[in-house]
Amino acid sequence: MTASGIELIDRARAAARLPEFGGLIAAALAAQDRARVPYSSFKVGAAILGGSGAVFPGCNVESASYGATICAERAAVVAAVVGGETSIRACVVVTPTAVPSSPCGICRQLLAEFGPDVLVFAASSVGDSVYVATLGDLLPLTFDSRNLADAGVAAPEPKPEPR
Ligand code: THU
Repeated sequence: MTASGIELIDRARAAARLPEFGGLIAAALAAQDRARVPYSSFKVGAAILGGSGAVFPGCNVESASYGATICAERAAVVAAVVGGETSIRACVVVTPTAVPSSPCGICRQLLAEFGPDVLVFAASSVGDSVYVATLGDLLPLTFDSRNLADAGVAAPEPKPEPR
């Protein structure tokens, strides 16, 4: 383990860490095949484990207006929320790199909405290596709703729906 709590392990150890890992990486690999990457050719797949135990895949979808591209992890988060999840336990992301690529900063920020205990597994789709870390490890001192509440511009908890 590194000082930051980020560990480089393999798929078998990842499965020992989280029993759902096998199903999550299978879903992420299937999603990776569907990635729409006409500009980068860099296919990414992801899968979210929701609080209910359901699995939600996502892939990157690129746009000719590059900034409109959505990453695989955020696509999977959106799928989980649309699917009714209000909490997220884990996120598996697969990239075609021998050394797994961990989620970009924007994806870390969105995942952080679900708390510092979200487990992130960054796996290689061309090898056995897996990084495991918590969101808190990957994004310390997160900007979150507490900062907004501190300034009095937002409530820390979602407000009831207006009627
Ligand atoms: N990408 C992801 O899907 N997830 C990340 O965490 C980093 C990058 C995608 C975005 C773009 O389609 C391609 O990888 C190259 O940056």
